[in-house]
Amino acid sequence: MKETSPGVDNENSRRRFFKLLGGGFITAASWPLARQAYGQVAGGQEKEQAPPIPKAGGAIDPADNKFWSFVREQFPITKNKNIIYMNNGTMGPSPYYIQWMFFSKEQEVNFNGIYGGHDIARAKVAEFINCDEKEVVLTHNVTEGINIIAQGLKLKRGDEVIITNHEHAGNAIPWYTRARRDRVVVKVAPLGRDAVETLSNIEKTITKKTRIISVPHMTCTNGQILPAKEIVELAHRKRILVMIDGAHPPGMFKVDVRDLGCDFYATCGHKFLLGPKGTGFLYVKEELFDRVEPIMTGGGSDSGWDYQRGLHGWNSTAHRYDYGTQSLALYYGLIASFDFVNGIGIDNITKRDKALANKLLQGLQDIPQVEILTPLEEKSRCALTSFRLKNMPYDKFQSWLMEKYKIRIRGVGEGGLNSLRVTTHIYNTFEEIDLLLKAIREATGQ
Ligand SMILES: Cc1ncc(COP(=O)(O)O)c(C=O)c1O
Repeated sequence: MKETSPGVDNENSRRRFFKLLGGGFITAASWPLARQAYGQVAGGQEKEQAPPIPKAGGAIDPADNKFWSFVREQFPITKNKNIIYMNNGTMGPSPYYIQWMFFSKEQEVNFNGIYGGHDIARAKVAEFINCDEKEVVLTHNVTEGINIIAQGLKLKRGDEVIITNHEHAGNAIPWYTRARRDRVVVKVAPLGRDAVETLSNIEKTITKKTRIISVPHMTCTNGQILPAKEIVELAHRKRILVMIDGAHPPGMFKVDVRDLGCDFYATCGHKFLLGPKGTGFLYVKEELFDRVEPIMTGGGSDSGWDYQRGLHGWNSTAHRYDYGTQSLALYYGLIASFDFVNGIGIDNITKRDKALANKLLQGLQDIPQVEILTPLEEKSRCALTSFRLKNMPYDKFQSWLMEKYKIRIRGVGEGGLNSLRVTTHIYNTFEEIDLLLKAIREATGQ
């Protein structure tokens, strides 16, 4: 049998690829559009074979059915009759294009014996969040990024760290770990109902011993967007550092770390960026490299080493915090996520995400048995909506909803919240929101 390079695909192997993805074929009706999009996908061989990236080419109405249906078609999960997925905040399902990039790069590596090459992702991350590529650490999830700072920042016994009372374990456990090891003190600031109150609560928690504030950009519990820029301004006036746990915003709304002014920003590719699972990146402001000791190190972290002098010093870039063999396919998949998001346009994505969440929020407000936990303040919310049912525990409703309506949402048991969290994204529809509201009305007897 004639060998074919996976890098030079043909019609047959493309069909095999879609089959591999679980029968989620691009329908005949979408082929003309898909073909058009091929021409707009960057990069040599990919031109002929890549699944499409929807290209907006300007502002798109969040209710433009033609455009958003085409976007939806790119997601195999929307073809799975056993699930209506509204849990993007836990895991963002990838569209065909991103999966194709990941699978074909992995094939290429295994066919051509390629080693390395993933470093190209640093420049792409830098472009996406507006920093210098020197300031990018390639990680595998949000938690890894937070740990690089939590374990490495030079702190002494009695120094204080501020977190909020709505943390994911990923931004709490690393700091409590540090507290156990070095007797650093973790202080907890309660979230307010809006941006002003939250800022004020953080300010009240600051003492002369506060060294760093480590808070979510958007909480995983009630979807509250924190006033990150104002927190940074407040902290910097008092010479306090700021770490942002940015698990959710990239891919949901524009994140510009220079504009935020934060010192560290940790995120992942596997939520709103819709990228490969187990990808992430951390921004470390260049002037702070010397204040964060690399803890886990190896090939790439160093500026040289030998058996006589030992380690000569650190890599002059943030590459000092990552090391060893990395997956080319995963990071190419991450780059594909940026291409996908940029093709649709981040502002179009934000508006669509917000429109879906607004519809849900409006519907929830009309159901008396529902207590909404997401702040109503416009600037403090986006694609994550959280509520509590007065007549039913969260876990009971969650299982009933999946069993009867096949709708997957997330229960929030953390901190005794007993609430439910809906995270929709660009592949969801207004009709799906209607169905969820119908289910909630049924469960609450309204
Ligand atoms: C706000 C927040 N921070 C951190 C994490 C942890 O992310 P990861 O699993 O990528 O480490 C999550 C995950 O859901 C999250 O929502």
